[in-house]
Amino acid sequence: MVYSRITGTGSYLPDRVVTNKDLEKTLDTTDDWIRERTGIKRRHVAADGETTSDMGLTAAYKAIEMAGIEVGDIDLIIVGTSTPDKIFPSTACIMQRKLGIHGCPAFDINAACSGFVYILDIANRMIQTGGAKTALVVGSETMSRIVNWQDRGTAVLFGDGAGAVILQACEKPGVLSTHIHSDGQYENLLEVPQGVSSGFDADRDGGPYIRMNGNAVFRKAVAMLGSASLEILAKNNIDKSEVDWMVPHQANLRIIAAAAKKLDMPMERVIVTVDEQANTSSASIPLALDTAVRDGRIQSGQLLLFGAFGAGFTWGSALVRY
Ligand code: UT7
Repeated sequence: MVYSRITGTGSYLPDRVVTNKDLEKTLDTTDDWIRERTGIKRRHVAADGETTSDMGLTAAYKAIEMAGIEVGDIDLIIVGTSTPDKIFPSTACIMQRKLGIHGCPAFDINAACSGFVYILDIANRMIQTGGAKTALVVGSETMSRIVNWQDRGTAVLFGDGAGAVILQACEKPGVLSTHIHSDGQYENLLEVPQGVSSGFDADRDGGPYIRMNGNAVFRKAVAMLGSASLEILAKNNIDKSEVDWMVPHQANLRIIAAAAKKLDMPMERVIVTVDEQANTSSASIPLALDTAVRDGRIQSGQLLLFGAFGAGFTWGSALVRY
């Protein structure tokens, strides 16, 4: 039996930091409100001209270095993003060119904030069925480009960044289990209501920017993150107490705390980066993972639970022996 294992992690955050105090100058909001309702203190914002593939590439090189592989060993590239550099080619193909490798499959997946759990699921299945041996799996987002900076309900919530993992075939798991779900009936609760086929029009639906019914999304996020975590533990016959670290999607500290409570998980065993990075969508789980691997909290052999929720709605979970 072939399994897959994370052998390297890497991440990247743009240099420019925008604090809540900075946002107070342009929006009818306060640092206190943002901290209290979301846990967010600051977010990173990409420089002009800095793209999703640029950020993904830096994260990828760090993961490649940690895994101790050569760039040429990579035989699959999957990028989770809803903010690609171009309509086509995919950001994964652009990264492939920048990495200087040729021929292996490279493609993007758009599952919004659940992107990383989706691409981990796909890469794991491809490795298990012999389609790849060394996959580069990247969540990268320039959310700042689809944020309406005049809308206090959403502008305070998002940030830019990238996280990457190298996933390699091995004899022992690794990735124990992944579960992904979606339900398109919630399309209008969280969306960028424009696109190629429906057309771009600055005067329609507030323009090509994120629109969200925050409260409804909040309630669903808590319910679905909790149920996805309980589902994966039950399917693998693993007790909640066996999980060493929860590495959740980072949208709001209150959502993370509510999901942790459902698992009786003390916050000391939950990786939290939302305070420093805000919601980086599909980049948030690999960013949090890399942060905790590099600061020594996550150790080899520990059991990790990833959980994500995003537009669609999409949601999912993964259990990983690091
Ligand atoms: O990755 C998945 C996608 N996103 C999420 O998971 C986000 C989910 N939603 C949330 O995190 C929360 O719903 C928010 C942080 C967006 C909002 O928090 P809330 O506790 O649900 O607040 P609310 O939407 O019920 O708004 C409460 C009040 C409203 O004023 P009124 O109507 O009570 O007078 C809002 O207009 O807070 C107001 N408000 C703000 N005030 C200051 C909304 N945004 C702001 C703001 N600053 N930035």
